[in-house]
Amino acid sequence: MTGSPPELPIVVLDALMPTAQRLVINRRGSTVWEVESHRGRHAVKLGYPIEATADWPAQPWTALAPAREGAVLQRLGLEEIAYGEWQAGTWNIQPWHEGPDLYRLWEPCRSKGSSIAPQTSVVLGCVEALAELHLKGWAHGDVQPAHFIIGPERTQLIDLALARGGHVPDEYDFPFRGCLVHYEAPEISRSVLATGEAEPTQEADVYALGASLLISATGWRAVEYPDDAPRPVQREAVANGKRRDVKAPGELGELIEAMLSHAPEDRPTIYEVRKALSQS
Ligand SMILES: Nc1ncnc2c1ncn2[C@@H]1O[C@H](COP(=O)(O)OP(=O)(O)OP(=O)(O)O)[C@@H](O)[C@H]1O
Ligand SMILES: [Mg+2]
Repeated sequence: MTGSPPELPIVVLDALMPTAQRLVINRRGSTVWEVESHRGRHAVKLGYPIEATADWPAQPWTALAPAREGAVLQRLGLEEIAYGEWQAGTWNIQPWHEGPDLYRLWEPCRSKGSSIAPQTSVVLGCVEALAELHLKGWAHGDVQPAHFIIGPERTQLIDLALARGGHVPDEYDFPFRGCLVHYEAPEISRSVLATGEAEPTQEADVYALGASLLISATGWRAVEYPDDAPRPVQREAVANGKRRDVKAPGELGELIEAMLSHAPEDRPTIYEVRKALSQS
């Protein structure tokens, strides 16, 4: 399924009766729409399988991801969640969260010669969002700058398709095979290299938050590897802990260093991160 994005399935149209809709992203295996209706604004995610190509193996799990996320969001007690199946895969409906993501918000910090420092209040918003999830006993598994939406009232952590911590219906579940390598903790990379799979953990989420803050504030990845390195090579570098010599300014820099500790047990918990920030 390449080229034009899939249209909203009938079940979704029936559920929301859209008055307006806008395509947000259309990537291989996943399409997101922003939909307006008398029920308010919602994000609609559609998943379908990624076919095999010369460079990629087939990825059937992308078809299941929206239903899996829908089940997780309901499990977490969120309202206005619906999910189901359509002809090519699964879909979900969730509340739309307005605001820039962390990477976009901190663009001014990254511009050349900039003296704009990353705001502690923004960091705290991201930390709060992750702490809320951890407190419920879940690990996110795919923490990255694009998944923090900095709203006017609070920060939302989106994309819970890979989260672990409670029951997910068997028919929509699939193994965790790592995340974007820039944000992958060394133990996750090592496990994916060895077995093709890993277990998302709260410790790995803290590492991913550290890597997200670092790249958003400075433009640099936490670990050194060439931009065009194949994924296993990237994972080797992460597993070996080839940290880049780059720091965010001030006390935030120290805190990020601790979050990026090689051994999971050396990283602060998200509650310790919150405490350190509120005292600074
Ligand atoms: N609830 C939401 N509110 C606002 N924007 C959203 C919401 N859900 C998704 N988006 C937008 O759509 C983008 C993709 O969503 P999401 O990350 O959940 O999908 P994905 O298919 O898992 O993408 P990826 O493979 O990049 O992780 C987000 O980066 C964000 O811009
Ligand atoms: Mg995503």
